[in-house]
Amino acid sequence: MEIHRITGDVTVMSDTAEVPGVGFLPVNTFVLHAEQPVVVDTGLSTPDKDFVAELSRVMDPADVRWIWLTHPDRDHTGGLWKLLEAAPQARLITTFLGVGIMSTEWTVPLDRVYLLNPGQSLDVGDRVLTGYRPPLYDSPATVGFLDGASGSFFSSDCFGAPMPSAEIATGPDARAVDDEGRRSAQLLWAAIDSPWVHGVDRAAFDPTVQQIRNLDPSAILSTHLPPAVGMNRQLIDALAEAPDGPAFVGPDQVALEQLLASFEPGPV
Ligand SMILES: [Fe+2]
Ligand SMILES: [Fe+2]
Repeated sequence: MEIHRITGDVTVMSDTAEVPGVGFLPVNTFVLHAEQPVVVDTGLSTPDKDFVAELSRVMDPADVRWIWLTHPDRDHTGGLWKLLEAAPQARLITTFLGVGIMSTEWTVPLDRVYLLNPGQSLDVGDRVLTGYRPPLYDSPATVGFLDGASGSFFSSDCFGAPMPSAEIATGPDARAVDDEGRRSAQLLWAAIDSPWVHGVDRAAFDPTVQQIRNLDPSAILSTHLPPAVGMNRQLIDALAEAPDGPAFVGPDQVALEQLLASFEPGPV
């Protein structure tokens, strides 16, 4: 993982997943350096990852007090269980549905869970975090949040955008891609991750976008976009376009067979 201290209060730990034909999807986790430290999501779940070891480059994992799991998809839960072991005081912030989804695979220690719904707040010592349902999401358990002290908005999958290289995907700044490139990548990700957006009622969707605009966050911190400080207008304008964006259709079996054939060794 690449580690960047992006504001006085926030460190991003950036990983990436290459998606063939789509690009390099950032997979970020964050450390919010609150009086009671908060880790936001825990990275990819592939066996080569060791999230707790990476986190120890930023802080002593034993000092983590809260793990804010924005939703239990496998690109967010990679280090979850090992971190709960390494951080005996830590509580796992999720929702009732989040626990339910995780319970289909794991035994969730309910005494370590803290249930928080959109609109509810949590005091972490020197600041209050308030939960929001971001406008786009791919899990009914999704809850992002606003840090009342720094003004950073942690948006989970929302505002994601595949990047043209692994280096940019794990970099410290979404400005590494020009506005038009980032806008079209945002629309692509919206179509992949939240395809339902193409059928939404504007009268219902637009106020969810306006809610984020009104928050006027100091930074938009998405799991799937390099950190974006001072980019609210561009990012939120692209989000507002998502219902009218192009649909995504993945490669089909013919394309898969062509790809596999390209891997076969040539005649000797
Ligand atoms: Fe997701
Ligand atoms: Fe995700």
